[in-house]
Amino acid sequence: MLHDPNHLYIFDTTLRDGEQVPGCQLTTTEKVEIAKDLELLGVDIIEAGFPVSSPGDFQSVVELSKAVDDVIICALTRAHKTDIDVAADALKYAKRPRIHTGIGASDMHIQYKFNSTREEILERAVAAVKHAKSYVEDVEFYAEDAGRADLPFLAKMIEAVIAAGATVVNIPDTNGYCLPDQYGAKIKFLTEHVSNIDQAIISAHCHNDLGLATANSIAAVQNGARQVECTINGIGERAGNTSLEEVAMILKVHQQHFPGIHSNINSKMFTSLSQKVSRMMRMPVQPNKAIVGKNAFAHSSGIHQDGFLKHRENYEIIRPEDVGLDSADIILTARSGRHALKHHLERLGYQLDKDQLSEVYGRFLTLADAKKDLNDEDLQTLMQA
Ligand code: KIV
Ligand code: ZN
Repeated sequence: MLHDPNHLYIFDTTLRDGEQVPGCQLTTTEKVEIAKDLELLGVDIIEAGFPVSSPGDFQSVVELSKAVDDVIICALTRAHKTDIDVAADALKYAKRPRIHTGIGASDMHIQYKFNSTREEILERAVAAVKHAKSYVEDVEFYAEDAGRADLPFLAKMIEAVIAAGATVVNIPDTNGYCLPDQYGAKIKFLTEHVSNIDQAIISAHCHNDLGLATANSIAAVQNGARQVECTINGIGERAGNTSLEEVAMILKVHQQHFPGIHSNINSKMFTSLSQKVSRMMRMPVQPNKAIVGKNAFAHSSGIHQDGFLKHRENYEIIRPEDVGLDSADIILTARSGRHALKHHLERLGYQLDKDQLSEVYGRFLTLADAKKDLNDEDLQTLMQA
């Protein structure tokens, strides 16, 4: 498959790895709404579901295939003939269908999940790719638990599935086990030891069990991966998957470290889409979550507020406008300084000289010690006292 070597393909699995989280299930109508937003966001691939898992998931893949025009619609399978048959059926309306099939690659999975041998697993992997290929041109193969797999065996498996027709090879760190330099080295090893690697795109699929999913995905890109599998808000199995918005903003902020690499993501949609996904999936976003958390652009300590108000770039590496926010927040708490208080009072129309500000600031601190944070109404009350 010909592809632009500088394009970073964004594979969104919010509706598959994300949606399998307990309590996050969506109706087909909700999935279609999110898929249309993902298309507008600029993702390249939407993993729409695991069709054999339930009639509802099958139907969702059918409806998403009809609803989305430009984005590749991908369906997950195990390396089972029936799974692949069902996925191909669910994808029958997709304008750009992809089957994502795979099997465990680590000795742990081979022995304790499949009670099998490396040789047998290799045969099953190749057979699954060949069967998927009989339905669609675009076949992605995942080597589950690749993060803990023996590297020469992983390379052998990847070479065999590419020879069988895989267009994308997914190297999942299924258990979120790897350190960034280990995961990056794994990707590099594959680029150097798989003879036909130029015929496929390497994909990073990282879990966040040690809080390293995004760092590992970025290490993968630095070492040759050109597809990242991620979710909105980083939702996903256990501690979650790589967060789409984090990857996109890292590439933007550190563009000079990724010369020429680009994606189609429109980051201005991040805030609204994050809130929609959180609401629909009943999964709150932690306030300190990078990029989309409530506090991601909120400055609350006096030292930071003063520096920010003097020159925003003292404390701002991302412009809030770039992720769809109007502006940063200057929160008023008992840790705030005079500069922040003055800023808010001026916004409300109060001009105070130095002595007046000191007097109001004393009363402000007494109130702020008693109350967690202060709003405009509190400031009006303070000024009228
Ligand atoms: O984490 C994982 O290994 C997966 C595969 C099914 C791609 O989600
Ligand atoms: Zn996963």
